[in-house]
Formats: sequence, C-alpha cells, structure tokens
Amino acid sequence: MPEVIDLLLRGAGQLLTCRGPSGELKRGEGLSDPGLVRGASIAVADGKVLAAGTDGEVSDALGGASIAREIDAGGRVVLPGWVDPHTHAVFSRYRADEYEARIRGDSYLEIERRGGGIKRTVREVREMDEEKLFEISRRRLLRMLEHGTTTVEIKSGYGLDLETELKMLRVIARLGDETPLDVVPTFMGAHQKPPGYADGAVYVKAVIDEMIPAVAKAGLARFIDVFCEEGVFDLGETRAILEAGRKHRFGLKIHADEITYLGGAELAAELGAISAEHLIRISKEGIRRLGNSDTVAVLLPGTSFGLASRTFAPARELIDAGAAVALATDFNPGSAPSSSMPLTISIACSQMRMTPAEAVNAATYNAAFAIGMNRELGSIEIGKKADIIVYDVEDYRELPSRAGLNHALMVIKKGKVVWEREGSRVRSEVGL
Ligand code: NIG
Ligand code: FE
Repeated sequence: MPEVIDLLLRGAGQLLTCRGPSGELKRGEGLSDPGLVRGASIAVADGKVLAAGTDGEVSDALGGASIAREIDAGGRVVLPGWVDPHTHAVFSRYRADEYEARIRGDSYLEIERRGGGIKRTVREVREMDEEKLFEISRRRLLRMLEHGTTTVEIKSGYGLDLETELKMLRVIARLGDETPLDVVPTFMGAHQKPPGYADGAVYVKAVIDEMIPAVAKAGLARFIDVFCEEGVFDLGETRAILEAGRKHRFGLKIHADEITYLGGAELAAELGAISAEHLIRISKEGIRRLGNSDTVAVLLPGTSFGLASRTFAPARELIDAGAAVALATDFNPGSAPSSSMPLTISIACSQMRMTPAEAVNAATYNAAFAIGMNRELGSIEIGKKADIIVYDVEDYRELPSRAGLNHALMVIKKGKVVWEREGSRVRSEVGL
C-alpha cells in the first residue's frame, strides 16, 4: 500500500464495478452481473484503482495511509467510464437535412446515390484545414467526456485518398495526446469507393498496395475496418483488404450486415476479427458463428434510431447464442449524430430488450475487449485505470429509463477529475 492515496471516492450508494471473469469476455448469463456493491468506495493511486469494495473493506485495506483528496459520492451511482468502441468522430459538419429526408422516406443508400452521405463528408474533410479539423473534433470529444465517455475508438474514412486519410489519422493521434480521453485509432480507407475511379477494383488495389503499407509505416492505426455492404465493398474485397491489413499487423474489424445481409459476420468469425459491428441484418448462421467465437458483436442501436428505422440488431438472440455483445454510438455526421453512450444504452434497453445490467457491461467491460484495451480499462478493478463516472441517480436503472438528460455529476479519468457539473453540490432526498 503506498503511503499517499491520491483519491478516495467513498459513499457510493451503488458501485457497479463491471468486474469480469478473470480476463474473459462476458457472455450469456455472465453479462447480467454488473458487480454491484452497495455503500462502496474506490481508492486510487497513480491513476489506477488500488482498492474497490464496501466502504469498510476499502478503509481497512488503506490502513493508516494518508489521503490527498476525498470525494463523498453521497449515496449516488458510481460506475466505470464508458468505452465507446466504434465512432467516426472526426468529420466536418453534421448532415441534419438527411435525417429529415430519411424521416420522409428516403433510404440511406438512396441519399448516398444522389451525392449525400459519406461522399459529401469526404468532400468537406478533404478541403478542411488539419488544424480546424482537430479543433472541432477536440470539442466534440470533450462533449463525449461530459456524458461519461472516457475511452473512444475513432475511424478514419472520410478521406479516401492517402493524403486525407493520413490527415485524419494524425488528428486522431493528437486527440489522444491533447484530450483526457484514451483514443484508439482505426484505419478505414475502405469506408466507400471514392468517385474518380473508373473501376472499384482499382481503389481496392490502392487501399491494399499503397494505403495500408503507408498507414502501417506511419504507425497511426491499431485496427483496420471495412464497410462490407451492398454497393460498397463486397465480401471478396473485404476479405482481401483485411488479409492485407493483417499482414501489416492491424487488428481486424468489419462493418457487417448493417443495411443488407452480405455475410460479414461469418467472415469476421472466420478471420478471427476482434469485432463484427452493426449486425442489424445478421443471419442465423452469423449469430451461431459469433456465439462460437471470440469476435465481439458490437451493436449500435443509435444508428437504427438515427436512420429512423425500427429494425435493430438481434441482441437477445446474440446473447442467447453466447456471443460477446458490446455497445457503441457509431457517432458520425449522418446515420448516428448523437455521441451519447447513455442514449445508446437507453435505446439498447427499450428497443433491443437488453437489461440495464447487460447494457452497462456491454458499454464498459466488453467494449474494452472490442478495442483491445481490456487489460487496462473497462471495469473498476485493482490495477486498471481509474476511469469513473459519478451519476446523480440512486439506482443505475434510472440511466436508461430517464433518457435524454445528462445525469453525470463528475467524470474521472486516470484518477483525475476531468469534468464536473457546475452546481453539483445540490443535494436532494429524491432524484432530481
Ligand atoms: O457506420 N456504415 C458506414 N459508416 C457509418 C456512416 C457514416 C456516415 O454516414 O457518415 C455508419 O453508419
Ligand atoms: Fe460505423
């Protein structure tokens, strides 16, 4: 035990540790256990969790050590910082007109075909100065932090040429250096086939022969992702790009079966991808294969919501089949313009019938696996980063049920208070 404890957070009415079964993904029944401790404390030193348990257990463990800062959670809910394992958070402006067009009945792919969608953002991102792109992205990340997100994966993919993809990846790297969040970079040159190529195969070749080696050489990405979709990249192209990525030591991810079924989930399981993401149109066979694999099923119910669609990924079937389900926002300017993990959790509960405990585990513990960060964060466990949210609620089930409000009172990243609501000293006997 060190002599000085940097932070003691005590008096949590409900602490959800989200602790897991010794480094294993949470599946089936295991996803239902949020590691709830009532009347709990967390002790932090060097940015890491030193002890977590009941107030009595932690105070016994600390013995006579002196405490630099003490925070009283006042009976509120405390849980791990959200891990958002799938975003496109670096972009120019929102495409809110397309939201209205979809409500009026236009489909996502129709909007793409008439020059909207990803292509429109690509044009803008190519033109935008790198410093400006960084600054707007930095502000967007700080808003995510206010809602409790302390770790985020960000994909490139609004460049679709080497120069702009590298620009995006440099911005993503700076966001990791210059905001409190942990940022995990993914190269997604295969987000669309850009205009200007006579033949899509030529672009696939450019991704494989030029972009992947250059991004690997620059050391700017940890994962590679492909939008495997009708009219975008087919199954064969997806396989070729991911195999090339694997040769350059990228971890593999697939945007799979989002709008139409192509078999991306089966491919993800076959290739041993770290995650298969979206899965709205996944097949029975795809569900079975993910259930028998370590590929994390990253579900993004905020996308169905943003697309004004009533079709959601079959979360219950995936959980019943033993798949390791995680949740993410898909934060992007078009299909999913909300960066709020609590909103994602709320939609996961009401529309995909995940229980609040399953959703919390999926947005923390399993989400950390989906980006290879599970040894470092995703739960409040001794030795992991002290990434903690204090919520102004008395029961964690208020988070999804009282949707549309930011209940965060305090967000702690690596043991430091990085965001605190003004006037947070207001106390009440009943939830506000
Ligand atoms: O995950 N599916 C592809 N990419 C995003 C959409 C990005 C955009 O519309 O700008 C998605 O839904
Ligand atoms: Fe996406």
